[in-house]
Amino acid sequence: MAEIAVEAPEVPAQFPQIRVAILGAGKMGGTLLQAFLKQNLFAADQIHATVGHAEKALALSAQWGVDVTTNNLEAARQADLILVGVKPFQVPELIREIQPALTKEKTLISFAAAVKTRAIEDAAEMEIAVIRAMPNTPAALGAGATALCRGRFVGKEQMELAERIFETVGRAVVVDEKHMDAVTGLSGSGPAYIYIIIEALAEAGVKVGLPRDIATELAAQTTFGAAKMVLETGYHPAMLKDAVTTPAGSTIDGIMALEEGGLRVTLIKAVMRATERAKQLAAG
Ligand SMILES: NC(=O)c1ccc[n+]([C@@H]2O[C@H](COP(=O)([O-])OP(=O)(O)OC[C@H]3O[C@@H](n4cnc5c(N)ncnc54)[C@H](OP(=O)(O)O)[C@@H]3O)[C@@H](O)[C@H]2O)c1
Repeated sequence: MAEIAVEAPEVPAQFPQIRVAILGAGKMGGTLLQAFLKQNLFAADQIHATVGHAEKALALSAQWGVDVTTNNLEAARQADLILVGVKPFQVPELIREIQPALTKEKTLISFAAAVKTRAIEDAAEMEIAVIRAMPNTPAALGAGATALCRGRFVGKEQMELAERIFETVGRAVVVDEKHMDAVTGLSGSGPAYIYIIIEALAEAGVKVGLPRDIATELAAQTTFGAAKMVLETGYHPAMLKDAVTTPAGSTIDGIMALEEGGLRVTLIKAVMRATERAKQLAAG
């Protein structure tokens, strides 16, 4: 009997009608692009990415199976949604370069640190929707924390789409633009603070006799587990802490040492300083 070929049904992308440009598909842009494909937010033929170097464009095009070129204007012309992923200092020039391709119907989402929506609107010279995002490095593993804020001409649907976009690489929240420096100080710089805490906990494990690799794994998994408890139970961290802290047990002694060492106030100061610095950098 002749075999009947059964073709697996092509699952349409979640937003099949939106054409996307990713201008500056580097570490963060490339992470987003691959998440879009993996999670079928957009199909490969809906995406046109750009990079600075032609040879990189060729290699990435082969690797990702999407159009990758160095032609920002053409990519922007074809797109309904334009993601801006070049370095912050390159953003105004890039927007001027693609300006002839911009229309009020398009949406710009920039994830360049410190670049204000107003600066992009001004460079675009029109009342165009501009959304600014501040992702962080764990986005590379789908565990990012991104804050989004809207420019002056952004509608509800555009904002919802932006949230969906950054949810492909972790969690996304919406804040007012005035809070973006605070976001930089907390979740942007935050992974570095947590790495230090994990390293210190691992060192502590070594001090009390554990092999370093085991101490590091326990410290990292404990950090991960505690974060998961906060995110998934929705309980206040203080309540979760109280649940671990039995009367006259060992945890309360550990907490006393933490408070003596001023961990709480040290972390508050770290976020305050980083926020101040982000403000200075944003001011140029
Ligand atoms: N990485 C993060 O975790 C993170 C977090 C928050 C915000 N951001 C923001 O994301 C942006 C990119 O950071 P990144 O870490 O992804 O840097 P990156 O890896 O250096 O990516 C920059 C990309 O821009 C491309 N590029 C350079 N000039 C271009 C041009 N004229 N036209 C089109 N593309 C051009 C580069 O291509 P070539 O390599 O060919 O030069 C590269 O692919 C920055 O604005 C940064 O502030 C990144």
